[in-house]
Amino acid sequence: MSNLKFIIPIFLGTAALLVGARQISWETNHPPIGSCTGDCYKEYKIEDAKRLESERLLLATASPADLGGKIYTACAACHGANGQGGVGPALKGQAQDAIVSMLTQYKNKETRGAQSMLMWGQAAALSNSDMTNLGAYIETL
Ligand code: HEC
Repeated sequence: MSNLKFIIPIFLGTAALLVGARQISWETNHPPIGSCTGDCYKEYKIEDAKRLESERLLLATASPADLGGKIYTACAACHGANGQGGVGPALKGQAQDAIVSMLTQYKNKETRGAQSMLMWGQAAALSNSDMTNLGAYIETL
C-alpha cells in the first residue's frame, strides 16, 4: 500500500486547490443562478447577503455629491455630461439651493420656461434627498 503515500497528498492537494479556487469568485464556480438549487442556492443567498451588505456600506459612506452623480446620468443627455447645457439650459455654476428650488417647481408642474413640460416628468420621481444630492453634484461641475 505504498501508493497511498502519493495518492493521499495528491488528493489533499487537489481538494485544497478546489477550495481555493471556490474562494476566488462565487460566480465562476457555480452554475447560472437559474439552475442553482438546493445547496447551491443556499450558498448563493449567503453570498448575495454579503454583496448587499457591502453595497449598503458603500452607499452609507457615499457623499451627497456621489449619490447625486449617480442620478445625474439621467440628466446628462439634455444638460450635458459637464452641465454645460444642450437640449436643456446649462446647470454648471448654479447653486445647490437654486437647483433644489427649480426641481421642486418642476415636480409641482409649475411653468418656468417654454419647455417646462420636458422637466415635469424628469422631476416627478425625485425625492427631496435626490434633489439635494443632485444640487451637491451639480455644484462640483
Ligand atoms: C429630455 C431632456 C431633459 C432631461 C433628461 C432633463 N432635463 Fe432638465 N431641463 C430640460 C429643459 C428643456 C429645460 C428647460 C425647461 C423650461 O423651459 O422651463 C430644463 C430645465 C432644467 C432646470 C432649470 C434650469 C434653469 O436654469 O432654469 C434644472 C435645474 C434641470 N432641468 C435639472 C435637471 C435634472 C437634475 C435632470 C435629471 C434628473 C434633468 N434636468 C433632466 C431638459 C431636460
